[in-house]
Amino acid sequence: MIRIEPLSAADPAAVEELLDAAFGTDRHGRTAYKLRAGTLPLPLLSFAAFDGDALVGTLQSWPVRLILDDGGEEQLVLVGPVAVSPSRQRGGIGVALMKAMLAAADAAGEDALMLIGDPEYYGRFFGFSAGETAGWEVPGPVERHRLLARLHGPRLVGRRGELGPALGLGDRIA
Ligand SMILES: CC(C)(COP(=O)(O)OP(=O)(O)OC[C@H]1O[C@@H](n2cnc3c(N)ncnc32)[C@H](O)[C@@H]1OP(=O)(O)O)[C@@H](O)C(=O)NCCC(=O)NCCS
Repeated sequence: MIRIEPLSAADPAAVEELLDAAFGTDRHGRTAYKLRAGTLPLPLLSFAAFDGDALVGTLQSWPVRLILDDGGEEQLVLVGPVAVSPSRQRGGIGVALMKAMLAAADAAGEDALMLIGDPEYYGRFFGFSAGETAGWEVPGPVERHRLLARLHGPRLVGRRGELGPALGLGDRIA
C-alpha cells in the first residue's frame, strides 16, 4: 500500500539516494538543475511516496520565472524531478505523485506548471505539452519536444523570454 506524504516526511539523504538511483549520479549537470539553482523545493507542491517505512518515490517542485523579452517577468512552477525507485517503476507510483501535486497546484491556483520530461508520459496523463514553450529559452541544452507546460490561463500563452530560478520566491505559496 503506497502512501503519499509531504516531502518533509522523507529523510533528505534518502531522497538524494533515490534520485541517484533513478537518474544517475551525474544528474546535477542537467538543464533542469540550472533552472532551479539556488531555490528551495516548494513545500506545498513537493511529495514523497512510502511503502511502509521505505521511500519509493519523490516529486519536487521549484519556483522559476520567465524573464520576458518585452520586459517584465512571469512566475511559474518547475515540476521535477519525479523519481520512482527502479525496482518499483511502472506500478502507478509516478501517477500517484503527479496527481497529488496537480491537486495541490489547482487548489493553490497555480496556473502555470512546466517540466522537462517525456511528452508520452506527461502529455498522456497530465495535460502537459510543448505547444506553448516554443518561445522559452533555457540555460542549457534541451530537446524542445521535452520542454513541456500545463497552462490554465492566458498569462504565459505566446510569451517569449528566458527561464531561470525565481530566487527569493520559495515561500510564495508555502
Ligand atoms: C518516469 C517515472 C517517474 C514514471 O513513474 P512510474 O511509477 O514508473 O510510472 P507509472 O506506473 O505511474 O506509469 C503509468 C503509465 O505510464 C507509463 N510510463 C511510465 N514511464 C513512462 C515514460 N517515461 N514514457 C511513457 N510512458 C511511461 C507506464 O507504462 C504506465 O502505462 P500503462 O498504465 O499503460 O502501463 C519513473 O519511471 C522514473 O522514475 N523513471 C526514471 C526517472 C525519470 O525518467 N523521471 C522522469 C523525468 S522528470
